[in-house]
Amino acid sequence: MNDNDRDNRGKLKENIEKPYYGYRVVKYFIAALIAGGIVSIALAIVFTTWSSILCGVLGVILLSFGVFWHLSMGWVNVPEKIELVKDKFSNQLENVWAGNGKVLDMGTGLGRVAIEIAKQFPEAQVVGVDTWTKGWKLFGMTKAGAERNARIENVSERCTFQTDSALDLPFEDGEFQLVVSSFAFHEINVSDRTVLFKEAIRLLAPGGVFVICDPFSGSFLKAYKAKNMPELLEKVQRMDVEDAKFVSFKEAGVNLGRLAHIWEMGYLSGRKV
Ligand SMILES: C[S@@+](CC[C@H](N)C(=O)[O-])C[C@H]1O[C@@H](n2cnc3c(N)ncnc32)[C@H](O)[C@@H]1O
Repeated sequence: MNDNDRDNRGKLKENIEKPYYGYRVVKYFIAALIAGGIVSIALAIVFTTWSSILCGVLGVILLSFGVFWHLSMGWVNVPEKIELVKDKFSNQLENVWAGNGKVLDMGTGLGRVAIEIAKQFPEAQVVGVDTWTKGWKLFGMTKAGAERNARIENVSERCTFQTDSALDLPFEDGEFQLVVSSFAFHEINVSDRTVLFKEAIRLLAPGGVFVICDPFSGSFLKAYKAKNMPELLEKVQRMDVEDAKFVSFKEAGVNLGRLAHIWEMGYLSGRKV
């Protein structure tokens, strides 16, 4: 075998490798809840009196949670739904951003959005940041995983990843033309999440744009100390921002089906003055 053969084999392997952006562990979690529920209900039929009541109640609770999570979050493992969310994110950018310059993805995970932007916009230089803490590694979120995806998608040169917290990023003020985040803000542990918007806006150059995709239902809004979406938009607008707006998944044509709409997911965007 000569060096050329080795190269060709390497390339062949690279061609058949596929990127992975899903959340396998969610699937196992849902399956475990449903299986646990069914087993408990079966035991309730076999047992008598108190044991039967206990197993019955436990079974109904586990089964209800399993079905609820399946209907509201099951989409995170459906490749077509993930593609749809990625495509629509790029659509949100097309009208507001020229497509060149530095891009930051806060809480990048496996680089799903960072890599999509690098693919769609050939003049963009993208940096994905994440803490990739132990808990998230269980969900398959690792820096190596993000780098592997970028390599498979052939954007490694324009899409890099670094370990940093979105709460305090080691970049200069105004360094980026675009700041994005996808399903990460609600996961970041901080008493008032508006600091995440402040950090995103600090890093934007004047005229730069941010697009944050996340759930914004009532309980999520509380973490921004806002009662409703207009109040959050007003807060964001006061941070040297114009055109702050929220486009729900429904308005953007992202139909994840079943109960996913209860989280009121969508894109909150704006332009730094
Ligand atoms: C639900 S995942 C979203 C990942 C990715 N953006 C996506 O759309 O698939 C949430 C991510 O937020 C990251 N995260 C949590 N706290 C963070 C922090 N303080 N700074 C940066 N990332 C953080 C987690 O490590 C995880 O990768």
